Amino acid sequence: MDVKIKKGKIEEEAAEAIVLSHFEGEKSLPEETAAADRALGGQIRGLIASGEFTGKPNQLLMLHLRGEIPAKRVLLVGLGKKKEVSPEKIRQAMGSASRRVRDAGIKSFSTPLHGRGQNKISTSESAQAIVEGCLLGLYQFTAYRTEKRDEIKTVEQITLLDRPEGKIAEVAGGSRCGQILAEAVNFVRDLCNHPSNVVTPSRLAEEARTIAKEFGLTCRVIEKDEAESLGMGAFLGVARGSLEPPKFIILEYTGGKKKEPPVVIVGKSITFDSGGISIKPAEKMEQMKTDMSGGATVLGTMKALAQLQLPVSVIGILPATENMPSGTAVKPGDVVRAMSGKTIEVINTDAEGRMILADALAYAARYKPSALVDLATLTGACVVALGTHATGVMGTSPKLIDRLKAAGEHCGERLWELPLWDEYQEQIKSDVADMKNVGGRGGGAITAAAFLQKFTGDIPWAHLDIAGTSWNDEARPYTPKGATGVGVRLLIQWLTEMGRGRA
Ligand code: BES
Ligand code: ZN
Ligand code: ZN
Repeated sequence: MDVKIKKGKIEEEAAEAIVLSHFEGEKSLPEETAAADRALGGQIRGLIASGEFTGKPNQLLMLHLRGEIPAKRVLLVGLGKKKEVSPEKIRQAMGSASRRVRDAGIKSFSTPLHGRGQNKISTSESAQAIVEGCLLGLYQFTAYRTEKRDEIKTVEQITLLDRPEGKIAEVAGGSRCGQILAEAVNFVRDLCNHPSNVVTPSRLAEEARTIAKEFGLTCRVIEKDEAESLGMGAFLGVARGSLEPPKFIILEYTGGKKKEPPVVIVGKSITFDSGGISIKPAEKMEQMKTDMSGGATVLGTMKALAQLQLPVSVIGILPATENMPSGTAVKPGDVVRAMSGKTIEVINTDAEGRMILADALAYAARYKPSALVDLATLTGACVVALGTHATGVMGTSPKLIDRLKAAGEHCGERLWELPLWDEYQEQIKSDVADMKNVGGRGGGAITAAAFLQKFTGDIPWAHLDIAGTSWNDEARPYTPKGATGVGVRLLIQWLTEMGRGRA
């Protein structure tokens, strides 16, 4: 996608379409909308006066013009109440608007900077939200469609138009950030939408190597033999059932001061979760190709981080394997020894995420990080508890959790905390080993986190359960159906704040 930036008057812009906004319930129009409306002889005001267009969030109305101004169409979009406008509202409005433009078969459009100046939204924030909304909203996964490919509609160019007296450098800065983030999120969506016969652990390792080469990161892949000598019995226990070789992938980005401890982000990377011997029911099992969402998010975050050159040092870790049933697979009742030396009784082989994370978290501790964050499609219980609108967060550092929550509010990827009290440890006590890998009926998302906690020591740690937020059954304003790519914008927002010295 080509994103252009230029100065000019919207009413003089020759475009296939221009996107103009309005606030719900306001008498006066935003400046650019008003300027276009004057040139259009009050058509927009007329539509508002008649109640046909109210400006409700994400409301759309397409006007076909007859030469009154150089643009061929105006797409009106609602930004909701003026007092409530935010970058998130702008992202949503532009996601909806850009899809409407695409549905009409239009290949390019121009847009002024919506919402700027309201609620302290700066020029660069508005530009970033617009570009994110459009690029995220226009995402489509068409890799395996071979028929009627010429019928796939695409928008090829977006132009951000600032006023003649505007701040073009700020527009460019915000737009660049927005484009890097949206492209990283769409990269994650692609990895998750591809099937598991394509995105194997080996493919994830290749993707990591490509990112490293392209953006100057260090990449190391620990193969099965080395994982064995490191004693990663929990990770290898899961991998035992599969013919796909497991890969333990590490990416390092050094943007901070040399002596400063890094941050480590770990992503669950089960490229297919059949459940193993405790096999899952057939219904929706195909969705388990996305059980590597956490790992894909770590890859996408590392990529964006390097492009943005943030002044922080970050290590990304992906324990990658399939979880399959076979004659060599781990069985319920088996006991494995994790890298930390602790023994685990495997009660249910479908609770495999926490097993691979146990070794990844223990490995992460070697870096003595200032913060440790893991992302995982870990439990169905988290989906039951929070649905699909909030990522579950638990951990050992209230400060870290608060910062992640604040980052989530800012970027529209919200977190909700569940309690991780000591009492929950009772549920994962085993009669034969140091712990067991499931905690019974109650509080499944929490007992999974309680299990992970056993491998994080005293490192400030937060666990993000993205089982509900990494996949959309229905399209949302800037998130089409399928993989959402959740977590990239959240982590980059958090790391940006950290880079500013606020975190
Ligand atoms: N990958 C699943 C969790 C999941 C479920 C993700 C639904 C996305 C949507 C995980 O490995 C799993 O199977 N968890 C079990 C744990 C149970 C056996 C304790 C679950 O949630 O049922
Ligand atoms: Zn599972
Ligand atoms: Zn899983």
